Amino acid sequence: MTHPPVPLGTFPTPLEPAPRLAAALGLGPEDLWVKRDDLTGLGAGGNKIRKLEWTVGAALAEGADTLVTTGAPQSNHARLTAAAGARLGLDVVLVLRGTPGASRSGNLALDGLFGARLAWAGEVDQAGLDTAAAEVCARLRADGARPALIPFGGSSTLGARGYVRCGTELREQLPDLRTAVVALGSGGTMAGLVAALGSGSVLGVDVGALADPAAAVVEFAAPLTAEEVTPDALRIRRDQVGAGYAALTAPVRDALRLAARSEGLVLDPVYTGRALAGLHAAVRDGTVRPGERTVFLHTGGLPGLFGHPDTIAFAEEGTRVFGA
Ligand SMILES: Cc1ncc(COP(=O)(O)O)c(C=O)c1O
Repeated sequence: MTHPPVPLGTFPTPLEPAPRLAAALGLGPEDLWVKRDDLTGLGAGGNKIRKLEWTVGAALAEGADTLVTTGAPQSNHARLTAAAGARLGLDVVLVLRGTPGASRSGNLALDGLFGARLAWAGEVDQAGLDTAAAEVCARLRADGARPALIPFGGSSTLGARGYVRCGTELREQLPDLRTAVVALGSGGTMAGLVAALGSGSVLGVDVGALADPAAAVVEFAAPLTAEEVTPDALRIRRDQVGAGYAALTAPVRDALRLAARSEGLVLDPVYTGRALAGLHAAVRDGTVRPGERTVFLHTGGLPGLFGHPDTIAFAEEGTRVFGA
């Protein structure tokens, strides 16, 4: 049984034209639109809110009083789970990869501000994080709490329902939409968009969080659509991963500057910066063409910029001194 979502965000999010960014990418002035899912409201915003409305809705229906989830130290999903808990009066435990002190600002600072408790799992893989989260849940239960485990990245078929709604908003806002471009991390965001818009209308730019991102998108999307979703039908670019998840690659640097200097739009180094770098590459190789309507999904992540030391150094390098 599917429980109703709990309202957490502000919807529909705006769809804004981006003519100067379009020109910089080699598109026509009316070709490019930005879906502002960074403006979802709660907890400094971002794509995870739409998914949390469903996963936390189910947790509440099951009587949970504590939310537990996993992630990297600069996880946007962990930060927004902490914010959702604060909004709803639930306790939150974040099971994070690594050790205390390795990273302090950005999302981690907000996790603390929202009152979440942190459990450091050490340098483990996803299976190790899942084991640590199961142990945290067992300890909470032993103490009389009622924990609910929210999946990694908020991604599951249930969480992806939040992005079916986003796809529906997009169809209303831009009926002749040809391609929606989105960062692909744990897969739920792309899965919901694929279910709403069809495999051929979504271009996912892999950030390197999963070994097989297409399999995740198929798994989450298939129950939500009558279309037969197959890995081969999905449009996924894997050319922006670079040296891994946290690497600030040259195309991402270009993308961050391009968006900021053409539209005053702030992207993050891990997700939206990669997504724009992927869109730029897609225009260059002709998979996204002038004359078609393209939507760039701004999925948030701004706190991650302030939690990424290389990005701060890069931004400082670009500071222009008047008169110099
Ligand atoms: C800012 C941002 N954009 C995009 C994504 C990718 O979404 P998904 O994990 O649903 O693939 C994430 C996920 O962590 C994110 O934090």
